[in-house]
Amino acid sequence: MTETPAAGASPDRFAGRAVVVTGAGSGIGRATAIAFARAGARVLGVGRRPDALDDTARHHPGITVLAADIRAAGAPRAVVDVAAERFGRVDVLVNNAGATALMPLAEADARRIGDLFDLNVTAPSLLAAAALPHLRATGGSIVNVSSTYGHRPLPGAAHYAATKAALEHLTRSWALELAPDGVRVNALAPGPTESEALTAAGLPSAAVDQIKADEASRIPLGRRGRPAEIAAWILRLADPADTWLTGQILTIDGGLELL
Ligand SMILES: NC(=O)c1ccc[n+]([C@@H]2O[C@H](COP(=O)([O-])OP(=O)(O)OC[C@H]3O[C@@H](n4cnc5c(N)ncnc54)[C@H](OP(=O)(O)O)[C@@H]3O)[C@@H](O)[C@H]2O)c1
Repeated sequence: MTETPAAGASPDRFAGRAVVVTGAGSGIGRATAIAFARAGARVLGVGRRPDALDDTARHHPGITVLAADIRAAGAPRAVVDVAAERFGRVDVLVNNAGATALMPLAEADARRIGDLFDLNVTAPSLLAAAALPHLRATGGSIVNVSSTYGHRPLPGAAHYAATKAALEHLTRSWALELAPDGVRVNALAPGPTESEALTAAGLPSAAVDQIKADEASRIPLGRRGRPAEIAAWILRLADPADTWLTGQILTIDGGLELL
């Protein structure tokens, strides 16, 4: 039998549910916000750039947005409070906002390492903590967005990979910690996917093009991923029907992990 992410799932499987998606102004986060809204959820999309968030919201009336830097003091709680005020509940937290950085060991820099961990590890932790009372009340779930490099080495960007390894280990530990509350915690680990990530890392466009071509040539399925292909599996991990799935890291990377 052929299974797809949506197989057996009703098109409005998130009807009545409230979802927070960080990093919703571009790439995987935008695709995820749109996919949840199309599946019936009310979505709060979070990011720093209001214009980018507004572009996301224009895709579906089920998406509302909040401009916030999730690293700022008090921001994670404020984000969750806004969602709870607007929707009266929180069922799913998608910790998607993140950044990468090329940083060979010889160029290790305390501020850049701290920035990566602030965004990729600390902010998701504080968002999850703030959301916890609501997730307990709804029997909800957390989906953390890791990377295929969260569980394989990445020479030249080891600290990015280390933040994602941390997020994967938090995923497994929280899954056990929150299981008695009926809160599920899983992670999606994408491979190289079309988004603004490389540009946001400050790379010149020629370097971005070179990296994209190199990545595509190494991926067994022959191309980089599309954000919607990642979003479909984020929804699947969060699906309220998947009642017995927790603590799992799902890699979606066109087979890159097999090499
Ligand atoms: N694309 C890939 O190849 C790939 C592969 C593996 C894993 N991932 C992971 O997938 C996730 C999404 O990345 P993407 O590829 O879709 O890249 P992206 O297009 O750069 O998206 C990242 C989003 O995070 C937001 N963001 C960054 N810093 C923020 C902050 N301090 N507060 C709030 N929002 C913030 C950005 O919006 P603002 O700048 O407006 O805040 C942006 O919309 C990340 O966790 C990334 O590590 C991506």
